[in-house]
Amino acid sequence: MSKLSIHLLTNAQQRCAYRASIFHFLRDPGLQEFDSSAYQSIDDGLLVVADGKVAALGQYEEVLAELPSDCPIIDYRGKWIMPGFIDSHVHYPQSEMIASPAPGLLPWLERYTFPTEAKFADPIHARNVAEFFLQQILASGTTTAMVYCTVHPSSVDAFFNASAARNLRMIAGKVMMDRNCPDYLRDTAEQSALDSEALLQRWHKQGRALYAITPRFAPTSTPAQLQLAGELAQRYSDAYVQTHVAENLDEIAWVKELFPQARSYLAVYEQYQMLRPRAMFGHSIWLDEADRRSMQESGAASAVCPTSNLFLGSGLFDFALAQQSAMHYSLASDIGGGTSFSMLQTMQAAYKVARMGGCYLPALKMFYQATLGAARSLQLEGVLGNFAIGNEADFIVLDPHATPLLERRTQQCNNMEEFLFVLAILGDDRTIYATYSGGACQHQRI
Ligand code: GUN
Ligand code: ZN
Repeated sequence: MSKLSIHLLTNAQQRCAYRASIFHFLRDPGLQEFDSSAYQSIDDGLLVVADGKVAALGQYEEVLAELPSDCPIIDYRGKWIMPGFIDSHVHYPQSEMIASPAPGLLPWLERYTFPTEAKFADPIHARNVAEFFLQQILASGTTTAMVYCTVHPSSVDAFFNASAARNLRMIAGKVMMDRNCPDYLRDTAEQSALDSEALLQRWHKQGRALYAITPRFAPTSTPAQLQLAGELAQRYSDAYVQTHVAENLDEIAWVKELFPQARSYLAVYEQYQMLRPRAMFGHSIWLDEADRRSMQESGAASAVCPTSNLFLGSGLFDFALAQQSAMHYSLASDIGGGTSFSMLQTMQAAYKVARMGGCYLPALKMFYQATLGAARSLQLEGVLGNFAIGNEADFIVLDPHATPLLERRTQQCNNMEEFLFVLAILGDDRTIYATYSGGACQHQRI
């Protein structure tokens, strides 16, 4: 431990230490199974948190020797502390409509999604669902998410008020949608830009909130709306952008009809200046080589949503080509197209999707894409995603004894890759013993 971190400790007002096995990433393991230089793993570790930030990390005995004697120590021996998961694409208003049956994306949107989102005209309903959503993700070990609200500006206020009450680092925005949707959910190009700008000014960088300019997807925006969204994205270059791209073949054919001049679906967003760092493109299944190059060169990122893609039959994301192109990508639940809030379950689906595409996705890579890799995709490295000193102390406590099967199976593991793999394949919300955000416990399994 450095002198600097001790200094931090002695000056800190509020500090607490956590004893457990500790794991976090230092860099991208790539598709290597056993690259132990990509991570730090400490069997008997101590994580010290001061004023909501990581103040020190190391072997228990070593950190203890330097710890002020009045610092409380919470004993999680037998469990694993890791950075909280990051879900890079999720719709909080769709929490109540998971498992809605439909033959594909477009009928699913019409039959269930739009009527469900209409209810968010009522701010009390929005508050109620925002609370439920946050409880669900925290119970699943997710501490940061990139979140779609609905077209209603009050749905954004409801969400950020609920996340601020828990001091969560959240990225969210108002859906912009001015065509090809029911009247009751339609905004206009001008009003959506005014509302988005007002929300951005109200919430972006307020506490831990970050704002995302959120045109739903190209089919539900006129060129005028995309133009205004792109202008906002240029004017507020430190804000986020989120939308959907290349999810489903029917959707892609529709985009071709609506934007016949565009070289590809992704090129529509490129035309309107939305390919840039801090832009997150949901799904990105059917990108071609030129699209992947544009993603890589622009610094934009893809949110890969495997449970949703399997559920809606959208397609199989190509992990091998994404890795080859060096584009940014991260994992996401896409609730309510997705079928689980759990990033562990999302990893299980990602692994199967990769296998079906002939790619082998190690557990190390999946955990990286749900923690430090996602932080990098969101330009939040140095803020969260691992336990670098000074990072925000968002972490989870995983219980490898959560079920009799997990307990028995994890005892057979010979190395970190095998252990993480078992958590990814067999784990779910039961595996999350506790979830901390900014050093405060926000969920404790009963
Ligand atoms: N494309 C446009 N809107 C949506 C949505 O709500 N969910 C998914 N999965 N895809 C979309
Ligand atoms: Zn989505």
